[in-house]
Amino acid sequence: MRTLVIGNGAREHALAYSLSTDPEVSEVHVAPGNPGLAGVATLHPGIKGDDADAVVALARDLSADLVVIGPEIPLVAGVADALRDAGVAVFGPSASAARIEGSKAFAKEIMASAGVKTAHAESILPGATEDDIAAAIDRFGPTWVVKDDGLAGGKGVVVTPERDAALEHVHYVHAAGNPVLLESFLDGPEVSLFCLVDGETVVPLLPAQDHKRVGDNDEGPNTGGMGAYTPLPWLPENGVQTIVDDVVAPVAAQMVKEGCPFSGLLYAGLAWGADGPAVVEFNCRFGDPETQAVLDLLTTPLGGVLNAVATGTLDELPPLEWQDGYAVTVVLAAENYPASPVTGVEISGVAAGDEARGIRAAGVAEKDGVLVSAGGRVLNVIGKGATLDDARAAAYDELDKISLPGGHFRTDIGLAAVEGRIAIPGR
Ligand code: GLY
Repeated sequence: MRTLVIGNGAREHALAYSLSTDPEVSEVHVAPGNPGLAGVATLHPGIKGDDADAVVALARDLSADLVVIGPEIPLVAGVADALRDAGVAVFGPSASAARIEGSKAFAKEIMASAGVKTAHAESILPGATEDDIAAAIDRFGPTWVVKDDGLAGGKGVVVTPERDAALEHVHYVHAAGNPVLLESFLDGPEVSLFCLVDGETVVPLLPAQDHKRVGDNDEGPNTGGMGAYTPLPWLPENGVQTIVDDVVAPVAAQMVKEGCPFSGLLYAGLAWGADGPAVVEFNCRFGDPETQAVLDLLTTPLGGVLNAVATGTLDELPPLEWQDGYAVTVVLAAENYPASPVTGVEISGVAAGDEARGIRAAGVAEKDGVLVSAGGRVLNVIGKGATLDDARAAAYDELDKISLPGGHFRTDIGLAAVEGRIAIPGR
């Protein structure tokens, strides 16, 4: 199978690496990719993922049997539709189905029709008066959850106990021309559950937890994600099946009913409160950085799995197989991330081809034969172990061998779970 992955981050590095280890996969290409993943794939740096014509032309040139679209922007822009129209098998939803992420208001409508628990929400459109904004703010909080109702890659959310900070983020989002979604705050630990979905067929992957704040102890601003671990030792028994039955399957069925069936990876971001799981958000693609940890424990070859979804045969796929134990991924971020990351800084102790060490590269470029930082989240280091503590130790030991002057990472990925500090309200 000749495969083409669209995207340029550590998630795409993880996808490309797993595809490269599948005996049925003969070629792995990534467009545009990044130089840190050149050890497992052929790069096509001139191709922009949201340029549907260019992606279709490349897929045809490569005689690709399967295209896997990583990020949400090409999906929302209809790149999967263009590939399907050209007769290419693609892992990723249509633009119509990708609205589950692209429009939070659409996601709320689907959840309301499917009877799925989620936060109460109100939209504030750009151009709303100061009085209307203040009145809306006063119908919520504290705590306030203020979201950019567009594609913000997880960075457009402010969760704050401060009314002024909530108001400031409303103005910030409106200044960019986007609507704001105000939501009631959902209590309880967060779960990311990725599900392969093909119409009404739902196959869950291992549950994971992201760490979205930049600093230890969940301090500082939200980021795209600073690290993750999988599986979740504190999740109630049958927790994954509960999420599938109460959340993902009803949403998948509702999308079929509304004429926008989902095909690809449906990411349910949930808070597990006293009344069970409630949806914080849906995404229409693999999450980053959870994917890096989750795929590292998957032993079923990935090409066949993604191809089953792309060809509408997920219901025939044998049960997925997983390695025992835990995986932890830690993100090494550039100086001053997330505000305004410093780039062009030499990274030492790492090179392309370091996948077996757990390295998955994201914001990197090559200069004079060495890797330099080129984005906010620079790379991931994955550790695995029989216990979550072992997996943490493996990840941090490897991270100690890498140097990015000015760079930073969280030291507490998975620590609250190891120390038994994650509690479901009311339990
Ligand atoms: N893990 C956050 C995201 O992928 O949006």
